[in-house]
Amino acid sequence: MSTLDDDYDLRTFTAALDPEGLAAEPRADAATAAWVAAESMGFHEAAADDAALGRAARRLTADGRRLTGVYRREANPGSLDAEGRPVATFASFDKTLHVGGGRLVEADLVAGVTVQPTHRRKGILRRMITDDLARAKASGTPVAALTASEASIYRRFGFGVGVRERTIEVDVRRAGGLLSEPEGSTDLVTTASLAEVASDVFARFHFRSPRSIARHEGAWHHALGRERPDGTPDPAARAAVHRAATGTVDGYVTYRVESVGGGPGATGTQTLVVVDLVAATDDAYPGPWQLLRAVAPASSIRYPNAPQPDPLSPALVAGRAVPIRHDEDHVWFRILDPIAALQARPWAADGVVTIAIGDALGHAAGTYRVTSEAGEATVKKAAVRRAALELDVATLGSLWLGGFDPVTLAAAGLVRERRKGAVQKLRAMLLPERPLHGITYF
Ligand SMILES: CC(C)(COP(=O)(O)OP(=O)(O)OC[C@H]1O[C@@H](n2cnc3c(N)ncnc32)[C@H](O)[C@@H]1OP(=O)(O)O)[C@@H](O)C(=O)NCCC(=O)NCCS
Repeated sequence: MSTLDDDYDLRTFTAALDPEGLAAEPRADAATAAWVAAESMGFHEAAADDAALGRAARRLTADGRRLTGVYRREANPGSLDAEGRPVATFASFDKTLHVGGGRLVEADLVAGVTVQPTHRRKGILRRMITDDLARAKASGTPVAALTASEASIYRRFGFGVGVRERTIEVDVRRAGGLLSEPEGSTDLVTTASLAEVASDVFARFHFRSPRSIARHEGAWHHALGRERPDGTPDPAARAAVHRAATGTVDGYVTYRVESVGGGPGATGTQTLVVVDLVAATDDAYPGPWQLLRAVAPASSIRYPNAPQPDPLSPALVAGRAVPIRHDEDHVWFRILDPIAALQARPWAADGVVTIAIGDALGHAAGTYRVTSEAGEATVKKAAVRRAALELDVATLGSLWLGGFDPVTLAAAGLVRERRKGAVQKLRAMLLPERPLHGITYF
């Protein structure tokens, strides 16, 4: 029986530009171009021309993405594989993740996972992801993270949902104003002038918000409305900044007004879609909402990345005018080193708890004693006959930063309490200082 290696060649390389290309018009090198073309086919995107491949390669290069391509050893003549196109793609790169209390850890971010339909269910994904997790563990990275287009795939590799995402849609007419006037002021600005301050505002948000992930090039591209297929700025993208009473910019929003229905010449429904909203202070969140409400003629405002719980609903006169349109898993965490990951985050209450962690891939398996005192935890391997709590590494990923309550996951059968009171104790110990909120897609 042939093995995966008999049929396929797996190669990992760093995204790169063609050294012969011009700085103003970068070209992807051949391997990166073939990888990007295969990835966009895997996600059913339109085929990219050389200029678009070059722009994509520039972003991947800026982030130092490690690209894995899986190549057929014997491709059929005339097929895309025969032209050096991989039949499967996988990317990973490192960015900081805020774990609470202003503390950052390096996370291995997984993206660009595609396997061509004709090569599925042969173990290609398993090989790519287990190789990457082993590499990350060996290099000392305590956690990996991903977002999943299908929820049933990644738990077997030890990933658990760390936080959910939610789209809200504000009915502008019903919502009314704000119950409390935010301090500071909000002004419309050009997206070009916003670009000069956006990364500073994001850096403050990142430092403040547990579960925030540092932004990569592609995320900025989207946030600042530069996503037109030809790479030019989208003229429909609008921006506003919020200034604190001191005059410092402490928040911003980018948005578009989109028309739905109506047909040529008719008036459809207009929705203001928030593309990016970054608030580095409390007032910088409701402040821009006031302006968005006033932006005629949109009758509703859709925000695809609302915090949970969302301060907007209690802030409004009619908080019920904020229906949830969509709610699903967002970022999944895979703990690779439980000692480093658990010691990195701040702890809300003093306590001692022993936890037995199951891990089919072995990286996090074992029984650990977590002792938290004055906000810090010491985590050590423990030789106890029976731990107070038993869970698998995917569940640990869900509990880690406080995005899921141990009481809820015990009720779901994912946390087994072997010593009475241990679930409640862990709940108090893990409470984050603020609700988790991340606004970086990858
Ligand atoms: C999802 C995808 C990457 C799987 O690739 P693959 O090479 O066929 O997967 P493998 O053969 O390595 O299977 C790995 C495991 O996942 C399971 N699996 C694969 N596809 C699955 C799916 N769609 N749903 C549930 N489980 C799936 C397999 O049964 C296997 O389980 P096991 O190892 O425990 O027996 C591939 O189907 C794909 O490219 N889909 C479209 C794009 C996509 O959804 N990408 C994910 C983006 S986050």
